[in-house]
This record gives sequence, structure tokens and C-alpha cells, in this order.
Amino acid sequence: MDDVRLRLSGVSKTFPAQRALSDVDLEVRAGEVHALVGENGSGKSTLIKVLSGFHRPDPGSRIEVDGVGLDPGNPAGSLAAGLRFVHQDLGLVDELGAAENVGLSAGFEGKLGRIAWRAHRARVRDLLARVGVPVDIDRPAGRLAAVERSAVAIARALDDRHGTPKVLVLDEPTAALPPAEVDRLMQVVRGLRDRGVSIIYVSHRLGEVLGVADRLTVLRDGRSLGTFSTEGMDEAALAELIVGREVSEVGDRAGLTPVPPDARPVLSVGDLRTDLVRGIDLTLREGEVLGVAGIAGSGREDLAEALAGAAPATMALTAGGVTTTGQASVARARQHGLALVLPNSHPACAVREQSVAENIGLARPTAVARRGWVSRRREHAVAREWIERLGVSPRDPARPYGLLSGGNKQKVSLARGLIGAPEVLVLDDPTSGVDIGARQSIYALVRGLAASGTPSVVCSSDLDDLVGMADRVLVLVDGEVVEELEGEDVTEARLLAAMARRRPVPVGALAEMGGER
Ligand SMILES: Nc1ncnc2c1ncn2[C@@H]1O[C@H](COP(=O)(O)OP(=O)(O)OP(=O)(O)O)[C@@H](O)[C@H]1O
Ligand SMILES: [Mg+2]
Repeated sequence: MDDVRLRLSGVSKTFPAQRALSDVDLEVRAGEVHALVGENGSGKSTLIKVLSGFHRPDPGSRIEVDGVGLDPGNPAGSLAAGLRFVHQDLGLVDELGAAENVGLSAGFEGKLGRIAWRAHRARVRDLLARVGVPVDIDRPAGRLAAVERSAVAIARALDDRHGTPKVLVLDEPTAALPPAEVDRLMQVVRGLRDRGVSIIYVSHRLGEVLGVADRLTVLRDGRSLGTFSTEGMDEAALAELIVGREVSEVGDRAGLTPVPPDARPVLSVGDLRTDLVRGIDLTLREGEVLGVAGIAGSGREDLAEALAGAAPATMALTAGGVTTTGQASVARARQHGLALVLPNSHPACAVREQSVAENIGLARPTAVARRGWVSRRREHAVAREWIERLGVSPRDPARPYGLLSGGNKQKVSLARGLIGAPEVLVLDDPTSGVDIGARQSIYALVRGLAASGTPSVVCSSDLDDLVGMADRVLVLVDGEVVEELEGEDVTEARLLAAMARRRPVPVGALAEMGGER
């Protein structure tokens, strides 16, 4: 067919230690949303980096845009051919606004080194209007909502200063987005498609893939299993294609046994306050997984780090029969037996340059030391145990952390939390970027830990996490708990409804605000 916009034939990529892509064929049509799915480490990001020219593919690989061959491993060539990219980390400078962020990569209006600011700003506004999300272009990117940040990154990719964008590649654009903003982004994607842009969409969220994509290609171990129409496909069938075996439904609560109401409290937190959280109380009982839900800005995003002392907070904390009060600190949290598991997108999550073994060992040096010195052999042996237990791939303790795929980074992050044998685990977005198989092993692991003596507090923007793991969920709105759901009541619909609630506005407050709204 001649409506093929992008064609890959026999694309392979061999890294020094391994082959990440083997003989991949892929055709993306003009004006379609084409999803790229596969387990962690299956080669999705590598394929995208080959397209962008960041990686040079093996000899014999061929890439064509509108029938014209592309010079492999040449970023300027990819750009000129109309390929555009929004990488998972977005690559925005947090201190700068949209105007500068777009200019820095797509170029500024103006001549002879003088920036024509008025024209440039008008251009950026126009690009954002095309994306369809209103953004204050002077507000530093670090202070924008997640969907606004994505919009800036997409606007930047759509800039046509270097030719018309033909194919827009989005690598896990929703991994950090709350549900309402995901819907918004889906609309943006459909709008772009309807204007003839082809979209390559990478995501581990199967519902989202089936909702937005026309067709999808499945990668497994660097090979393509083929391209399929999404029409009539359901999540179970897609999960089976990706993993290669039957997968029980995500968010299935069948295996959750209720915590007895008289279960002993393991952790009590009183009057927890942060910038966003306005004095909440919570109790975690023996055997329990306590979920925390809330949209961006609700305080949910602060809570895990605050509890574990990694963000400024005050509270009264009771655990192990001891109560402490005042400022949160890591030392204080440790003293109470709390360990924090950060999402792999967090800068403090791990040291990129160091190996998997070093990263795991650093989280608890005494576990890998002999007579006060870190023993490399011991460190590798301990890391190997965690690699096996959590299914980190590749199974190589010496591999630099930074070279792992996103989902495998997340597994290392879990190992770092667990190695200290904590009394209570505090998890922040524990499945960000993990594939469907790993997601289920993380759910099983967290539930298993709770049953065997280590209960958890799980703060997540992903409702599947809460439905799949939590016995009970606190829903935050504007820094306060507006609802507590338990057992059968923990459903996606109930969570969404509670998250969308507003705190009642006190009588008279509207008048003070000038009577607007
Ligand atoms: N620069 C590199 N050097 C060596 N190996 C690499 C490099 N980049 C990726 N790999 C390896 O190639 C394989 C494919 O990784 P890739 O990042 O493409 O996976 P992915 O499908 O994007 O996974 P995820 O869903 O976790 O993001 C992995 O085994 C990874 O460890
Ligand atoms: Mg990836």
C-alpha cells in the first residue's frame, strides 16, 4: 500500500553486551496511531532511539520515510525527514518557561543572533494552541502541571521550523499523568492524527493503548511478533500477546484477603502536614496494604516522601511502641523501621553510573560488608538474590543501572527499599514504567510482604495499583482525606468519583474571592 509513511525493514541493533533489536519490520501509515508494546527490555526505546538517529543500527537495517531512505544514526537527517520525538523524561529545563524551552531546541525567531521575542512568543503560543492545552508560557516548566509539561514537549516537537512533522513518537507520555490528564492527552493525540500526523505511541497501559491506537506492533526480546489491528481486541488478549502466556486480569482483587478489623496497628501517624497536606491522620494495621489516591496537587504526591522523612513535613509518628513528634527526617523514619521506594523517574532513586549491585548495596552497606569494608563478592551475591527474586533483566549485577530499561530500574528501586528488612514499606508510584508481567509480580510481592509481616503504604497516581494491592484507600483532595474506601468499595469508579470531589467552600469565602465563579 502506498499510504505507508514510515517503513522499517530488517532493523537490528547490537550493543557490546547484547542484541537489543533483531530484524524488525514495521510499517506506520499516514494518519494512524500505531502503538509499540512489549515487556520491559523488549527493545521499544532502542527502536525509538534508532529512529531518532541517537543509535546507529546494524548494517543492513533500512528506514524509509515516504519512500525515501534515511541516513542511519544521523539525528539531523531524522529531523529533516519529519520524525519528531517526545522522550519519556520530556527533557525540559525546569527553571525555564515554555517560550525558552521551545526555543532552546527548535530555535528562536530572529536574525543575526538577536531574538525577536515578540514573534517567538507568538509562535510558541500558536504551537501550544495546536496541541490544545492552555499553558502560561512564562511559568517555569518545573511549576507546570504534568499534562502542561507534556504539552510543552509536544509543542516543541511539532515546531515546523525544520520542516513539517510527519511522525510524532511518544515514549510513555502518560507514565506520570493522573487519569484526568491522560484523557486530555488522548484527545490531543487523536486531534493530531486527524490532521494527518502519524503517531507512534509507547505505553504499558493496555486500556490506553486499545483506546487510542488504530494498530499495534508487539516486540518480544527485540523481535517483532507482528502488527495487529486493535479493533475487537481486549486487554486480556493484548496482555497475552505481550507476555506470551495467559495473565490474570490487572486490578483483580480476588486474591485479597480482608484484614481483620481488630488487627494490631503497626504505624500511626497524627497531624501530618506538608506544603500540600493539611493535617491528616492515618493508621496502618498488621497485614495491611494502605493505598493513598489523589490528583496532582492533592498532597498524594508529597505523602510518601514526607512519611519517610525525605521531604519537609511535621507529624506525630508511633511505631514499635515509640512515639516521636516534630520535623520528619530520614533518620527518624529509619528509627521507626520505615523504608521508602521511589519511582525510577525520581532523581534520588539510584546512581545511574553505578552497577545494579552497587546500587542495591548502597541502600544497606552493612548487608554487603565484611569487617567494615564493602566486599564486592558479597555485594554481587546479595544483588544476585534480589535480581532472581524480582526478575531483574538482564540478570547481571555488574550492569550499570543507567543502561537498564525503565521497568527494570523500578525493580532495582524495590530491591533498595526491601534490603533493609523494614517494618513498614512506603511506596511512591511503585509500577511507573513497568510492564504488565512485572506489575503483577510487584502486586503479589507487596501483598505477600504484608501477609508475612511487612505492611505497606502505597501512594499511587495509577488506580490499577490501588485496586490491585490495597485493602483500604484514603482519597486526598486539597490536602485532606475526603473519603476512605475499603474492601469491595475499592473500585476505579469509586476512586475517580472521590478524587474529583471538591472540599466544600465555607460560606462567605466566595464573596471574599470577589464573587467570581
Ligand atoms: N546503551 C545501551 N547499552 C547496552 N545495552 C542497552 C543500552 N540501551 C538499552 N540496552 C539494553 O537493550 C534492551 C532493550 O532496552 P530498551 O530500553 O529498548 O527496552 P524497552 O522495551 O524500552 O523497556 P521498558 O519498557 O522497560 O522501557 C535491554 O536489555 C537494555 O538493557
Ligand atoms: Mg523504554
